[in-house]
Amino acid sequence: MEKLVITGPTPLKGEVEINGAKNAAIAILPATLLIDGVCTINNLPNISDVQICCTILEKLGAKITWNTPNEITIDTRNIITTQAPLDLTSKFRASYYVIGAMLGRKGEIEVGMPGGCNLGARPIDQHIKGFEQLGATVTVEKGKIHAKADKLVGSSVYMDIVSVGATINIMLSAVLAKGVTTIDNAAKEPHVVDVANFLNTMGADIRGAGTDVIKITGVEKLHGNATYSVVPDQIEAGTFMVAAAATHGDVLIKNVIPKHLEAISVKLIEIGATVEEYDDAVRVSSDHRLGHTQIKTLPYPGFPTDMQPQIATLLALSTGTSTVTESIFENRFKYVDELTRMGANIKVESNIAIINGVTRYTGARVNAPDLRAGAALVIAGLVAEGITVIDDIYFIERGYEEFDQKLRGIGAQIEKVSDEKEIQKFILKVS
Ligand code: UD1
Repeated sequence: MEKLVITGPTPLKGEVEINGAKNAAIAILPATLLIDGVCTINNLPNISDVQICCTILEKLGAKITWNTPNEITIDTRNIITTQAPLDLTSKFRASYYVIGAMLGRKGEIEVGMPGGCNLGARPIDQHIKGFEQLGATVTVEKGKIHAKADKLVGSSVYMDIVSVGATINIMLSAVLAKGVTTIDNAAKEPHVVDVANFLNTMGADIRGAGTDVIKITGVEKLHGNATYSVVPDQIEAGTFMVAAAATHGDVLIKNVIPKHLEAISVKLIEIGATVEEYDDAVRVSSDHRLGHTQIKTLPYPGFPTDMQPQIATLLALSTGTSTVTESIFENRFKYVDELTRMGANIKVESNIAIINGVTRYTGARVNAPDLRAGAALVIAGLVAEGITVIDDIYFIERGYEEFDQKLRGIGAQIEKVSDEKEIQKFILKVS
């Protein structure tokens, strides 16, 4: 099993390039199932979630050509089955998008109950409610979801909860339905807008993505024959922003949309870091111990839950007492025990982390409990004195392309290793 080994503290300095957004890519790929044609997608992050998604599409009959590590051409003219591979779909959260897309394309699909990071109960009742309102019958049995519709007809769907996944999924099922679908109380995340832009580029008629109400007018078919570039990853960019501030570094983070990063920038500025915005880059620097604040995770444009572990890791090194309230997921503080082993002073009460800032972390052997928590532990390792070893890094590789390589490029002492011998070699090299 591969691990990351890090020695710190090292200020990050230099320039880093952000990839396309994971959460947009893994929705856009299933969305290609709605196209009876060929299209090209670039700025795709080369991460394991994208690879799993491509394998699921290939098993359904899609032909994928990798033009470069970040660009594919995908031919979805010949979809041969309505049974998605159960082993892959049940390991992978975003496999739920195959349901919306295949309902639109074939009127039927069977997938495994979606897996993904364990952040507590993650029901998909809002997705199912939407499909049913458009005329589908959905059954969940023995870890499988079966959805079928003789005909999908546009309808009004009100989301009881603001859900990124359900908003995108209902949009997918409505693109080829007859008539108009409206989604009220829709999620407004940048990747919701990106999926709508992708579908519109391919011939769909979707308006209002990025607002509370999305209106989808069904079209006969999507034509393909176009190239689409995935939006830059808000969370990868945010992770590097926090890493730059936490290490008292100075990093220019390129290929970003600064507007998507506002909630993060505002908090970093509030606690004393410097954030400069350019057209498609942000520069984050800090040269002193940062201050405390209160943060509550909220749907976009609020502070993203996917940045909660990273910012908490920084606040745990700042002055005074901070609080971080998690309002989206019920179990997103699993990294706290690991950070505590590195010296943090954090108490979790219900959905609030009460953080008393300490002056330093010390390196330790820790486990990445999920994707973003894993990224937070990498930030802790960069700041900690001594050696940190992070196990279970496959979580991190689900969402960050060449994370260790990018960090080395801005001065971090970090390496991916596969056994204890290599850890010892790293320790000898850096000592
Ligand atoms: C997506 C992202 C994830 C991010 C999250 C919130 C993907 C693959 N994952 O997850 O990285 O952390 O958005 O920005 O894009 N809920 C229900 N019923 C539903 C759907 C959701 O109760 O049918 C609840 C969830 O349990 C959660 C909240 O709604 O408490 C928001 O979840 P949602 O926005 O759907 O998150 P995901 O799409 O799973």
